[in-house]
Amino acid sequence: MRNDRIRNKELFNKMMSAEEASNLIKDGMVIGASGFTPSGYPKAVPLALAERVKKSGKKMKITLYSGASLGPEVDGAWGEAGIIAKRLPYQTNAELRKEINAGNVEYLDMHLSHSTQYLNYGVLPKVDVAIIEALAITEDGHIIPTTAIGNAPAFIKNADKVIVEVNTAKPMELEGMADIYIHENPPCRKPIPLTEVGQRIGTTYIECGLDKIAAIVETDMKDKARSLAPTDEVARKISENILKFFRKEVELGRLPKNLLPLQSGVGSVANAVLYGLCDSEFENLTCYTEVVQDSMLELLRCGKSNLISTTSISASPEGFEKFLEEIDFFKNKIILRPQEISNNPEVARRLGIIAMNTALEMDIYGNVNSTHVMGSKMMNGIGGSGDFARNGAITIFTTASTAKNGDISSIVPMVSHVDHTEHDVMVIVTEQGVADLRGKSPKERALEIINNCVHPDYKPMLLDYYNRALENGAKHTPHILDEALLWHSRFQKTGTMKK
Ligand code: COA
Repeated sequence: MRNDRIRNKELFNKMMSAEEASNLIKDGMVIGASGFTPSGYPKAVPLALAERVKKSGKKMKITLYSGASLGPEVDGAWGEAGIIAKRLPYQTNAELRKEINAGNVEYLDMHLSHSTQYLNYGVLPKVDVAIIEALAITEDGHIIPTTAIGNAPAFIKNADKVIVEVNTAKPMELEGMADIYIHENPPCRKPIPLTEVGQRIGTTYIECGLDKIAAIVETDMKDKARSLAPTDEVARKISENILKFFRKEVELGRLPKNLLPLQSGVGSVANAVLYGLCDSEFENLTCYTEVVQDSMLELLRCGKSNLISTTSISASPEGFEKFLEEIDFFKNKIILRPQEISNNPEVARRLGIIAMNTALEMDIYGNVNSTHVMGSKMMNGIGGSGDFARNGAITIFTTASTAKNGDISSIVPMVSHVDHTEHDVMVIVTEQGVADLRGKSPKERALEIINNCVHPDYKPMLLDYYNRALENGAKHTPHILDEALLWHSRFQKTGTMKK
């Protein structure tokens, strides 16, 4: 381990146990953790800290920054131990979600591409300690990252001290996949020199330096990724509808035969869409995205794609084992970039990305809620969906047309919270069909959505609302304000949106 993973002998005396390293974290500190979707995050030190706090009975409150969601060793264990006072920019942990919705954790749900900027512009308090998972540390004290880059470069740059978790469960063959490019602050910021998905523009390590490294902890703990639910009929139909839409766009000459670089959110619908592409006629696909799930690895495996740019590889446990077995095949086909680059609006617009993300609910005018259940309860967060949706060449939002056994219509008169406005949402796809909102006025959009995407149980109710709204007042974006959120309150009172 020593010479292979820690390449400067001077660093050997900084090796210590996770418990010892956790003593560097003090009450009131700001901690920046590597990791992006449960991948490439520190595990041993966070667990040791949670254990110490629980045993001592002493209260500790810290602010936790990350790239995106972290595994249960951080968000779960720290959430449960009551350590987190403030958290940003994204999470998916059930324990932490409970704490956020109980009002015990202040949560900043933000565009992932903004989190680095906020740090670099000095808007957020600086990082006291960064905890970073690494494959190895170079002779100069620079960090070779594992399977996710996220905000690690910004945290290391910003931190007073860095704790490195060298994870031997991640094989050295991963070295070389990273491409670390650091963006300068404005004014006169230079263009990011990326005009194609596969270009390499940076280094394979993250700059740190020997002096900043305060502790090195060896671990072999694996990422706790979740297994994916099998593709169901609804997801399969959504996938078919998206493929039909792509075919039509190609036929009309609005998309090239190999489409445009694909960005895909996580979850079973996203997986179904990508598996659908594996079985389709489309070839030579590329992906410019933030997370690679099993289905994107399959796109490479089946030869439909040869190139993926991402900030994280977050496969299921089974999918990850398979990926490691075939690492030589994948190594030159995947580039891992900092999230400020993977999610960068400038690059998304330049490459002309097809952004595909999932919504909780949408309204008849095309506003999308991705985050808040019934307007108030945080689910996960906006993640990178806004980074891509606002700037993609085509922005698609998918959802099953109903939720909770049909008692919720995912298409409502007015969304209870807005993450993506009508101006950013171009295409809506449910298992019922496709609504192409591009070039349509609000009234045209409403009919396109109601006629093509709404479940038959709710179509007459929505048409009735829309027609009465048309008679109600101003006719640009017709609404009946007393009724606009009535569907949600009816669900809360009676358990169903149906009358
Ligand atoms: N109202 C209330 N609850 C709803 C709902 C609605 N309109 N639609 C879905 N739900 C519930 C589901 O019933 C389910 O509840 P459960 O956890 O109690 O079973 C839960 O929300 C998740 O729904 P599911 O259908 O399993 O969706 P998913 O796993 O595909 O996730 C999002 C959907 C929106 C939560 C998820 O995609 C997300 O967090 N998106 C924002 C981040 C993002 O887009 N990142 C993009 C790049 S990775």
